[in-house]
Amino acid sequence: MKVLISDNLHAHGVAIFEQAPNIEVINRPGMPPEEFMEVVQDVDGLVIRSATKVTDKVLEVASRLKVVGRAGTGLDNVNIPEATKRGIVVMNTPGGNTVTTGEHAISMMLALARNIPQAAHSMREGRWEKKRFQGREVYNKTLGIIGLGRIGTVVAGRAQGLKMRILGYDPFVKKEMVTSCGVELVTLDELFARSDFITLHTPKTKDTAHIISREAFRKMKRGVMLINCARGGLIDEEALKEALEEGIVAGAALDVFEQEPPVGSPLLLMGNVVCTPHLGASTEEAQENVAVAIAEQMVDYLLNGTVKNA
Ligand code: NAD
Ligand code: MLT
Repeated sequence: MKVLISDNLHAHGVAIFEQAPNIEVINRPGMPPEEFMEVVQDVDGLVIRSATKVTDKVLEVASRLKVVGRAGTGLDNVNIPEATKRGIVVMNTPGGNTVTTGEHAISMMLALARNIPQAAHSMREGRWEKKRFQGREVYNKTLGIIGLGRIGTVVAGRAQGLKMRILGYDPFVKKEMVTSCGVELVTLDELFARSDFITLHTPKTKDTAHIISREAFRKMKRGVMLINCARGGLIDEEALKEALEEGIVAGAALDVFEQEPPVGSPLLLMGNVVCTPHLGASTEEAQENVAVAIAEQMVDYLLNGTVKNA
């Protein structure tokens, strides 16, 4: 059997494929599209992160394909209905980067509250602007978490340590499940009205697309700060720009964008916006976790027919 690794995968994951009996590994991240379309025709397994797009065209030519494995969480880059129609199993590793992404959200919140990226940039340019970069404490402030799944609850746990008050909105979780993490479950409107910081941790679905809309901004406390380390498209970026200009939002920390990379986005140039290039899951630990998990899951499926998602 052949497995194609078409995006960068941690060496420990690659080694698991290489050591598996009867599996030939083609480790070629970043191939030009024409070459990829050629190679994928002859493989049983395809390992991806976010760069490779597994479209209906790819699935059509990949006639031997049995399994697509995403080292990471988001499956926005895989046409799952089409894969399912063709009997191709699609796996991901939802737990492997949870802590790392939660830590990134907390880092972004603190960076925003204390103007750390802007101050570092100013010092690099030879300035000493103490007054300009006065920040705010997070202690005793209210953090609103939208989406209380794996990452949302990690964020809640870390925010408790920072002595924040925590509100949560998630229509699919039970009150008892989140009160133990110190979260008060509220409606979305109440979360908007009471939060000093709002952080997003939902997938992008038809219900969550632009969950932070122009109308939502009108319901928020003036001076709120917004953090998105989940998915681009949860926030209406045009409406965010206006809310920042009007002072409704005092600052935004964005790891994900409607279009990635967000070429030409005016948000990148705003002084009260902190951006990272989709780095939420980018730590050595998380990349090792997701690579090892996807390799073990795929080998298990290809050799034994077992399906599991770690
Ligand atoms: P998860 O499935 O564990 O949790 C998502 C939560 O969102 C669930 O509890 C679900 O009930 C809730 N939810 C669904 N629809 C909702 C709605 N309409 N309103 C409120 N809540 C809703 O997922 P997770 O592992 O915590 O990941 C959360 C997000 O973070 C995903 O979009 C994932 O792709 C993204 N992510 C980003 C990075 C990054 O690099 N920035 C890394 C990992 C994950
Ligand atoms: C994920 O869904 O796992 C993250 O967005 C990380 C990534 O795309 O690398």
